[in-house]
Amino acid sequence: MEVIVAKSAGFCFGVQRAVKEVERLIREGVKPVWTYGPIIHNEQVVNELAEKGVRVIRSEEELEQIHEGTIVIRSHGVPRRLQEKMEATGAVIVDATCPFVKKIHRIAEKAGQEGKTLVIAGNPDHPEVQGIMGWTEGTVFAVETPEEAANLPITDPQSAILVAQTTFNKMKFKSIVEKFKESVYHEYVVDTVCSATDERQTETRDIARTVDAMIVIGGRHSSNTQKLYQICKAECSNSCYIETLVDLDVKPFQTSSRVGITAGASTPNIIIEEVAQHVRKL
Ligand code: F3S
Repeated sequence: MEVIVAKSAGFCFGVQRAVKEVERLIREGVKPVWTYGPIIHNEQVVNELAEKGVRVIRSEEELEQIHEGTIVIRSHGVPRRLQEKMEATGAVIVDATCPFVKKIHRIAEKAGQEGKTLVIAGNPDHPEVQGIMGWTEGTVFAVETPEEAANLPITDPQSAILVAQTTFNKMKFKSIVEKFKESVYHEYVVDTVCSATDERQTETRDIARTVDAMIVIGGRHSSNTQKLYQICKAECSNSCYIETLVDLDVKPFQTSSRVGITAGASTPNIIIEEVAQHVRKL
């Protein structure tokens, strides 16, 4: 059986950077180390870090109980209000927000200062989008579809800026841009879809088109992995979504001669390699 592993599978730059920061703190013997939310959407990595003493803050109420140690902001970033609240705890703050997300925070901040409406193409419930929303003082909307973009309650001649959640689907962003341009008079678009996401999605689509079966590896809550799975499903009906090798049902692959493997931005290489090796042996 031929097994094709996407070159872009696994940790992206921002996730790798955030995980490395936590590992550096552990190495340096810093105690206690907290992360605001799980550092990445991967249970195995989070559990391993927990064994090394890294604790996860799961709510603002929990944050209020902290008065010492080091708090790491993960690659998704947080709203400004929350960052200030962290700083007020007295703990040391290590900001591992991905620089590409930070760039969107700056755009949001400037939009607010200039009285412009900010529109984010993204999932309003996703922490990254909530973080971006929290950096503007002005009006902000999150839209997920071109229809939503076409019906934005933005009054002319108010101007608006459109950005995207870094993991947003590039094609979907393009269709939102079209509608946005039709409905907003003074518009400004900044394509903030991360190239890591774009490359991963394009490579995944290309592989899924040529294989008999496709395996997508990633955390259940990882939105970028969920998107990869949607892309695979559209190109290859024999696609499955797993977190680790344990979830893999090999039956659908036994008659396949060519299997593709891709993985979300928070999937460690060790898990990808384990799955690839297992499938090669089938
Ligand atoms: Fe950053 Fe792109 Fe990853 S925005 S966190 S490098 S997907």
